[in-house]
Parts: sequence; C-alpha cells; structure tokens
Amino acid sequence: AAAMGITARTVSDLVDTFYGHVRADADLGPIFEKAIGDTWEPHLDTMKRFWSAIVFHDGGYSGRPMPAHVKLKPDIAPEHFARWLGLFEQTLDEIGASEAAKAAFLDRANRIAKSFQLQLFYSPYE
Ligand code: HEM
Repeated sequence: AAAMGITARTVSDLVDTFYGHVRADADLGPIFEKAIGDTWEPHLDTMKRFWSAIVFHDGGYSGRPMPAHVKLKPDIAPEHFARWLGLFEQTLDEIGASEAAKAAFLDRANRIAKSFQLQLFYSPYE
C-alpha cells in the first residue's frame, strides 16, 4: 500500500468524500438515509476500518458485511451497485489517488460488489 502512495489519509479522504456523494445521490441517498439515519459517524468510522483492513492488513475490521446488505434487499437492485461503483471510481479520481491505488481499490470494490450481488440476486432454487 505504501508503494502505491496509500496512507491513512487516503482512506479517510476516500470514505468521507465517497459517502458525501452517496448521501447526495438521488437513487442511493434515500437507501442509506433510511438505514443509517443520523448515525453517520459510526458508519464512516466502520468504513475507514474496513478499507484500512483491506489495504494495510491491520485487522481493524471484523464485521460481517453481508447481513447488513441482505437487510436492504427489498430496496436494492443491480443498478444501485453500478451507481455505487461509478461514484467510488469518481471519488478515487477526485482525491488524487495514484493509478495503482485507484486500480487496487476498484478491483477490491468490484469483487466485493460482485459477491454481494451473487448472494442477493442469484437464487438458484427460487
Ligand atoms: C454497510 C448500503 C455496497 C461495504 C452498509 C450499510 C448500508 C449499506 C445502508 C449500513 C448498514 C447498517 O448499518 O445497518 C450499501 C448499498 C450498496 C452497498 C446500497 C450498493 C448498492 C457496498 C459495497 C461494499 C460495501 C460494494 C464493499 C466494497 C459495506 C461494509 C459495511 C456496509 C463493510 C459495514 C457492515 C458492518 O456493519 O460491519 N452498506 N452498500 N457496501 N457496507 Fe454497504
């Protein structure tokens, strides 16, 4: 991560800027507001620990992301993931992440988004 210029500041800027866009987004904003309401600080803190654990392997996140998203199932569709990923990529450009850092974050985000979507929307026995 250091070689890509990723620091704690990168992660903090990424999360703060990204969720600023998410909250202002016409499609994603209401979904997050409904689930998170006025407890954004703990969510932002969780998300900083989540991304730090991914890039620094610092063990700071030990949650289980899937159940948090299964709860949202009635309100989300694949289009929401496409929008989420689009805003995430835009944010990486805005915060001035290096090309290598951008590729690393996007690769992880894409993989996780794909795995969430398989679990949410692909139901072989339904
Ligand atoms: C938590 C929405 C995609 C990672 C949450 C929460 C919401 C949410 C509302 C808070 C749940 C709660 O506290 O009750 C969404 C929506 C998405 C999306 C609408 C796209 C349509 C993603 C992706 C990732 C991700 C692609 C990973 C790259 C997480 C993590 C948490 C979380 C780590 C914290 C779970 C915990 O409490 O430990 N998400 N999310 N989300 N999300 Fe997402």
